Amino acid sequence: DWTAGSIIDEQVELIRAQVGSGRVICGLSGGVDSAVAAALVQKAVGDQLTCVFVDHGLLRAGEAEQVERDYVAATGVNLKVWDASEAFLAALAGVTDPETKRKAIGREFIRAFEAAAREVIEDAAEASTAAGSGADGDGEVRFLVQGTLYPDVVESGGGEGAANIKSHHNVGGLPDDLQFELVEPLRALFKDEVRAVGAELGLPAEIVGRQPFPGPGLGIRIIGEVTRERLEVLRAADAIAREELTAAGLDSTIWQCPVVLLADVRSVGVQGDGRTYGHPIVLRPVSSEDAMTADWTRMPYDVLARISTRITNEVAEVNRVVLDVTSKPPGTIEWE
Ligand code: XMP
Repeated sequence: DWTAGSIIDEQVELIRAQVGSGRVICGLSGGVDSAVAAALVQKAVGDQLTCVFVDHGLLRAGEAEQVERDYVAATGVNLKVWDASEAFLAALAGVTDPETKRKAIGREFIRAFEAAAREVIEDAAEASTAAGSGADGDGEVRFLVQGTLYPDVVESGGGEGAANIKSHHNVGGLPDDLQFELVEPLRALFKDEVRAVGAELGLPAEIVGRQPFPGPGLGIRIIGEVTRERLEVLRAADAIAREELTAAGLDSTIWQCPVVLLADVRSVGVQGDGRTYGHPIVLRPVSSEDAMTADWTRMPYDVLARISTRITNEVAEVNRVVLDVTSKPPGTIEWE
């Protein structure tokens, strides 16, 4: 039977066997899964690893800063921040179909990792020249670490006889011409096991206890085309919801609370002495054990009221806040 310690020992050995002395990059998303995968690989092969945080422009407020600050402080890992927001937004222009969106995002992630990998090699060459070692090191990054979990594989149709429910960005969303060999040490695990492994590896509670956030970010929480303006609206509403949930002490009670912008829907409202014609925001608080099934969280009405009042007062484009009271199944947690 497994313990976090035995999983770590086993995976460290498997990672060493797979990558040898090769160079490795790991996409860090700010979430638990990629943080734990990176920590495992760092334990296995140390400096051969460079983490890459792709800023895809679909992040929540404060996300990039948090990864740069907390994760590097906790692990001392080599981190490269890669700004690819222009490329992601360009790839998403005109796209409204959820699966097309997910595949476009998955593809752009890989393009960003490829570009970042080239720079990792250049940096390494420069460093060895500067050190006068004359060694030209490894000419390429062959391995890409992903924090793929068992439920990601199943829902992307990778499980035996499983239907493709949605293509997770790091599974069904990968391009066919992928140059990297994947390292996926969490592929057999559920979220609670990943958290236990992370804690055992010494990652701080703020990282291990973080609520899930999907790799495709706010891109799959805008129902309709993703644009810079719409992202700003959703980011503002999401920041308010998160602030109030945290203030109410609900972060550990709620599994996660997606905030969704119905960008193609408008409804009539009244504010001050004028008519408004704005967009609805959906709150989707869920309770869950492993994200395979979920129930909607019976949240205190006063917290809902505060979130609703603040969003409609502070985000001009939004004039209505609605609550999603659907369990999974039949709904999924994310709307796309
Ligand atoms: P669904 O919407 O399928 O979500 O009920 C289940 C859990 O997975 C997260 N999720 C993702 N995580 N890449 C990720 O890293 C993705 O493409 C992705 N899609 C959904 C979702 O937030 C929930 O926790």
